[in-house]
Amino acid sequence: MPSPHSTSNSTTRRRPNWSGTTRLANQPDSEPKDERAMNGTSSSDVEYRPIADLIDLSGRTAVVTGAARGIGQAICSRLAEAGATVVVADLDANAARETAEGLAGRWSADVRPFTADVTDSASVDELAEYADSIVGGLSVWVNNAGVYPTAPLADVSDADWERTLSITLDGTFYGCRAAAARMVRRSGRAGRVIINMSSLSGLRGRKNLVSYVAAKHAVTGLVRSLATELGGEGIRVVGVAPSVVDTSGMRKRRTEATPAEAARIQALEAASLAAIPLGRVGTVDDVAKAVLYLASDLSEYITGVVLPVDGGVSAS
Ligand SMILES: NC(=O)c1ccc[n+]([C@@H]2O[C@H](COP(=O)([O-])OP(=O)(O)OC[C@H]3O[C@@H](n4cnc5c(N)ncnc54)[C@H](O)[C@@H]3O)[C@@H](O)[C@H]2O)c1
Repeated sequence: MPSPHSTSNSTTRRRPNWSGTTRLANQPDSEPKDERAMNGTSSSDVEYRPIADLIDLSGRTAVVTGAARGIGQAICSRLAEAGATVVVADLDANAARETAEGLAGRWSADVRPFTADVTDSASVDELAEYADSIVGGLSVWVNNAGVYPTAPLADVSDADWERTLSITLDGTFYGCRAAAARMVRRSGRAGRVIINMSSLSGLRGRKNLVSYVAAKHAVTGLVRSLATELGGEGIRVVGVAPSVVDTSGMRKRRTEATPAEAARIQALEAASLAAIPLGRVGTVDDVAKAVLYLASDLSEYITGVVLPVDGGVSAS
């Protein structure tokens, strides 16, 4: 029986396949013979879109929370470079404006600041409504804002616990709900994806980080749960799990710590570094590149996973 993909057309015109995605009609000729033999399919079964097209986010609006500095800022930079209209959302209005201006200049891109508090669901809804009102509508939402206080269990006050859960977990939940509500309205639109910032602490236990570990495990749970719930709408939900990344937040945590806390943080960071097979801590761009991959059509069949960006820690 002939493949439903087979065609005699030899131009580079795109045509739909079963799933409604497209490929180049003349691609089979460029498929390596070995590949055909290995996968046992005829060459015409192979999807093909050029890499430049797969990674192009032009016409898509992306929101990143906690984006004024650190990992969030680096994510905004890569998304803007890939052509997205980017909304830099942060509690710190001045820093968000500076970041947006800097990235807009660097990439000649449409990068806009937005002051939002992820612990306030009304504020997150406003952010989503704003982003969705930009031409093309909301496509990519990155729940990045989070805090990572260290303390042994006995020293974690109710207020400490609530603050960590509020920013890191409630904020992520509000973001998922607000983003999904807008994305569902644009049924059929390609490229709708929610990306949650988990952590290695969202995949395994670590001492002196109880509220953070609990919150990030819940963030991992949100990814898995919502990927199954929203997949039918064509919306992907994924996460990334960095281990140790040198950011201003991490540096601030060190400088503002009491001597006892500083010793704990130093021990934690030294142990973390020693456990990294690639032998170095991560950079903000290591994480941003992984987020770009997950935000783009390069990963269009990937959902429900939390990708470790950890130099190999989680493999050991
Ligand atoms: N740095 C690491 O080693 C590391 C490792 C794993 C995961 N992560 C995660 O990556 C994310 C970013 O970490 P980072 O190190 O870049 O942080 P950071 O402290 O450098 O920056 C966090 C940003 O979030 C903003 N923010 C804080 N509370 C907010 C709120 N209520 N509403 C909106 N914005 C708010 C801050 O103003 C700041 O700009 C966090 O979720 C963190 O848990 C970081």
